[in-house]
Amino acid sequence: MHAVIEVGYLIATVSFIGGLKFMSSPKNAKSGNLLAAIGMVLAVCLTFIAAVSETVPYLNLIIMLLAIAIGTVIGKRLSSKVEMTGMPQLVSLFNATGGGCAMLLGLVEVNQMNLATALLGNKILLMAGLVTGAIALTGSIIAERKLAGKVKDNRSKTVIISARLLLTSLMVLPVLFFIGVIPISFPVFLYVLAVIAMTYGVLFVLPIGGADMPVVISLLNSITGIATAFAGFVYGNKAMIAGGIFVGAAGILLTLLMCKAMNRSLMKVLAGTFKKGKNAADEQEQDIKEISISETALALSFAQKIAIVPGYGLAVAQAQHICGQLQQLLEKRNAQVDYIIHPVAGRMPGHMNVLLAEANVAYARLKEMDEGNENMPQYDTVLVIGANDVVNPAAENNPDSPVYGMPIIRAHQSKQVVVMKRSMGKGYAGVQNELFGFDNCSILFGDAKASLQELVNQLKLI
Ligand code: TAP
Repeated sequence: MHAVIEVGYLIATVSFIGGLKFMSSPKNAKSGNLLAAIGMVLAVCLTFIAAVSETVPYLNLIIMLLAIAIGTVIGKRLSSKVEMTGMPQLVSLFNATGGGCAMLLGLVEVNQMNLATALLGNKILLMAGLVTGAIALTGSIIAERKLAGKVKDNRSKTVIISARLLLTSLMVLPVLFFIGVIPISFPVFLYVLAVIAMTYGVLFVLPIGGADMPVVISLLNSITGIATAFAGFVYGNKAMIAGGIFVGAAGILLTLLMCKAMNRSLMKVLAGTFKKGKNAADEQEQDIKEISISETALALSFAQKIAIVPGYGLAVAQAQHICGQLQQLLEKRNAQVDYIIHPVAGRMPGHMNVLLAEANVAYARLKEMDEGNENMPQYDTVLVIGANDVVNPAAENNPDSPVYGMPIIRAHQSKQVVVMKRSMGKGYAGVQNELFGFDNCSILFGDAKASLQELVNQLKLI
C-alpha cells in the first residue's frame, strides 16, 4: 500500500506542475486549474487512505471526513457566489485557511512528538511551519478586510512599523530557546511563538495601502506555500512538500512581476510608502479637448482598425458586457477590433482578462502590451476605457513622475485617442496624465457603461 500511495503522490505532483504550466497562458488557464485541482483531490484521497491503512482510530477518521465535507461545501458555496471583483478577497480568505492549517498542524504535532528523542531539525521545521502559517493567517485576514474596505489605511503608520520592527527583533527567541536560555517547555514556547507570529501578521499588513493589497496577497500566498512545505517535511509527505514549494515559488514570482510592472520595489510596497505626485499647482496646463458621443460614434464608424484599452474604470463601471457588444457591432461593420491589455491594468493580476472573459470576448482578440505597441501607429482609433496610469506617457518622458519607468501602452502613438472617464480625476498613482494634452487625444466624459451604451445606440443608427 505504501508504494501505491507514493506513486499516487508522484502523479499528484506531476499534475501540479502540469497545472502551473497550463496556467501560464490565459488560453489554457482553465484546464490548468482543473488539472491541479484533480491532483489535489488525489493527494487528499491518498492521505485519507494512508490514515486508514495505518489503523488511525475511527474517531479521527470521522473527524477527517467531516473536515473534508465541511471544507468542500464552504469552498464550493463561497466560490460560486463570489463576484469577479471580489476574487482577491476570496483568494485572501482561502489563503488564511491554508496558513491557519499549517499553524494548527504545528500546535497539534508538538503534542504527538516524543520530545526527548525528536531531532533538533524536526523541531525547527515544526516551529518554522507554525510561525509562517500564523503570519499568513492573520495577515491574509487583514488583507481581506482592507480590500473589502472594512479596515481603513492606517494613519499611525510610524507606530505600527516600529512595533513591527520590535516584533522582528523577537526572531532571536528561538535561538535563545534552543541554547537553553528560556526555561519553558517546547510546547509552551510554540504557543508563545504562535501568538507573537499572529500579532506580527496583523502589523505586517496594517500599514500597507489598500491598493497594494493584491501584491501583499500574492506574497502571503507564497508564505502559506512555504509553511505547507515545512509541514510536509515534518510529516514526510512528498505531495505536501512539492505543492508547498510550487505555491511558495509561484507566489514570490508573481509578487515580483507585479512590483516590476508597477515600477515599485517590494520594500516600498511593504513599507507602505508611495512616491507622491506633484501638487495641482505644480502641474502643467493642458489643452483638454472634449469629444461628444456622436463625434466618437462617427469616428468609430469610419475607423478600420480600432484598439480598446481597458482599465480600472471599466471594472468600476461594470461596463465589460456593453463593451463586448460595441466590439461585435464594430466587427459587423468590418472593422478590426483588438483589446490591448496592460499587465497591471485594474487592481489585481489578470483583472481585465477576467472581466473580458466574463463578457465572452474571444481570447484571440486580446493583445499583450508589447504587440499592441508595435502596431500602435496603424490604429485609426484607440478607445481608452477607464484606464489612466497605464497609458500615461510621463512614464517614459518625465523622470520626476512617480510612474516613471513603468511600461505603458503607447496609445498616444495611434492616429486618434478617445479617453472615456467621468471627470479629470486621476488614476491610482495620483498623477496628471500627459496623454490628455496630446493633439490627437480627446476626452469623452461620463460613466463608461452609460457612454458605451449611448455609443452602441448611435452606431446602430449610422
Ligand atoms: P487607474 O490609473 O487607476 O485609472 C482608472 C481611471 O478610471 C481613473 O482615471 C478614473 O477617472 C476612471 N474611472 C473610474 N470609474 C469610472 C467609471 N465608472 N467610468 C469611467 N471611468 C471611470 O487605472 P489603470 O490605468 O487600470 O491603472 C491601474 C493602476 O493600478 C496602476 O497604477 C497600477 O500600478 C495600479 N495597481 C495595479 C494592480 C494590479 S495587480 N492590476 C494592483 C495594485 C495597483 P475618473 O475618476 O475621472 O472617472
